[in-house]
Amino acid sequence: MSSPRILVISSSTRPGRIGPAVATWLAAAIEADGRFAVDLADLAELDLPLMDEPNHPRQRRYVHDHTKAWSARVDAADAFFVITPEYNHSFPASIKNAVDYLHHEWANKPVAFASYGGVSGGLRAVTALKPVFTALRAMPIPEGVVIPNVFAQLLGGMFTPSAPNLEGLGLALDELARWTPALRVLRTGVAQAA
Ligand SMILES: Cc1cc2nc3c(=O)[nH]c(=O)nc-3n(C[C@H](O)[C@H](O)[C@H](O)COP(=O)(O)O)c2cc1C
Repeated sequence: MSSPRILVISSSTRPGRIGPAVATWLAAAIEADGRFAVDLADLAELDLPLMDEPNHPRQRRYVHDHTKAWSARVDAADAFFVITPEYNHSFPASIKNAVDYLHHEWANKPVAFASYGGVSGGLRAVTALKPVFTALRAMPIPEGVVIPNVFAQLLGGMFTPSAPNLEGLGLALDELARWTPALRVLRTGVAQAA
């Protein structure tokens, strides 16, 4: 049986952003863990326009190639790890836009978060994002990676995880590994052997 697939989504899009440094570390650490096959989506590279589909995503009648490509990528994932900075005590518009494009593709899959910012560690962004995902029947898990004062963990553009970051990642992967086969049953009606 092949490994379940996790889509790591890096949300920030501005020039000079920190997001890719965190994303590079996180994707490599998940790969090294070995339980998931990793796909990394950088929303700046994806470059989705502001939601421009004429039909409700529930209908899956997408007219734009960018939506069809994003749909296929999210559909292929069994779990998500969303990396988000905190902008004005919430999440950046880029992640809401990328989520709003689709509907069924998110459903019955677990979502973990890695957040960063100042003293809050981006937790207000995560708290605001959770109900967005539950509206789509995705399952946010409580365990995750919280990075307060992210600037202090950057050296020469490279992110160095703290001990709590590594512990949070391990706990999140344990929980994702529990939820992923359980939610697959809801999507397919078929249990996957452990
Ligand atoms: C528009 C904007 C709003 C911000 N608001 C917050 C905030 O509410 N809380 C916080 O901890 N940091 C805030 N910051 C600081 C960010 O955490 C920091 O700039 C971080 O590097 C942003 O992630 P990025 O570099 O990947 O874009 C804000 C930054 C920007 C650009």
